[in-house]
Amino acid sequence: MENHRHVIDFYKDFAPEYDLIRDPFFSYWDAFVNNFFIKHLRGNITNKLILDVGCGTGIQTYRVAREGGRPIGFDISLDLLNEAIEKNKGTYKIELCCADATHIPFIDESFDMIISFGSVLSHIPNFRATIKEISRVLKSDGKFLIEVENKICLDLFHEFIDAYLFNGKLYSTKKSTIREHIKGGLKKGGSVPWIFHYQDGKSKRINIWQFTFSEIEEIMEKYSLIIDKSFGIHVFTLIFPSYLLMRIKSGIVKFVVQKLGWLESFITDHFPFNRLGSSLLLVGSKKKDVS
Ligand SMILES: C[S@@+](CC[C@H](N)C(=O)[O-])C[C@H]1O[C@@H](n2cnc3c(N)ncnc32)[C@H](O)[C@@H]1O
Repeated sequence: MENHRHVIDFYKDFAPEYDLIRDPFFSYWDAFVNNFFIKHLRGNITNKLILDVGCGTGIQTYRVAREGGRPIGFDISLDLLNEAIEKNKGTYKIELCCADATHIPFIDESFDMIISFGSVLSHIPNFRATIKEISRVLKSDGKFLIEVENKICLDLFHEFIDAYLFNGKLYSTKKSTIREHIKGGLKKGGSVPWIFHYQDGKSKRINIWQFTFSEIEEIMEKYSLIIDKSFGIHVFTLIFPSYLLMRIKSGIVKFVVQKLGWLESFITDHFPFNRLGSSLLLVGSKKKDVS
């Protein structure tokens, strides 16, 4: 079995802060996901059995329950799962367990829908095994909503400028790291180093696997997962470097991001904007079994 210790350790420190993040970067993402649930899932998931892969603190698992679905969430991090359990005051019936997405502990074709928000796939070196497992436990013709980190986004440009002109003052990305980043990003199936800064000033590095739309489409098709639609998240909002969006509390920046987000909500599923952005939300279904 793969060693996921680095992910577990990363989220151990992050767990108490996870639900408290309210910076413009996260707030925009959270509003995007919330609107997506209202627009696309409301009224369509009543009594459906839905698996939340890498559910973390259960933000989306609870959303599924609120919309009338029957959610089961699992995650590799017990620390995040504990936060999810603590939040449940008995209002919603949700099932949670600790498991690894490369070995999903459910029988074949057991779910009507699989969701995976927060780019869980991008945390997993053996992302192919996870895609294969998602396909295995999804019913034929079942739907999936999977978010992955995207290679083509404005932040790469900001990091490059920061490393070369300002010696990595913002992202604390050294030139060698940015070279690593670009090399990893260009490589098919490559990962990029991502440095997360906690609120107490400490920082931690984690590797993130990024994809272009075509790369992820090709891999998913191999496992009968056919993408019908893709939505770009943080397409225009990243004219501000994500570093600033994760820190600046200024009302003006929040206002501008909100307005850019408003613009984005109209075009996020149209080419080429559905292939740009810091992440892509892929929506589709498992090819019907024709045998
Ligand atoms: C950015 S968080 C997203 C959490 C949640 N889906 C959300 O929308 O808030 C990424 C999650 O992926 C989980 N994860 C990473 N690798 C995993 C693996 N191999 N198996 C299961 N979960 C994993 C992490 O523990 C973390 O909870």
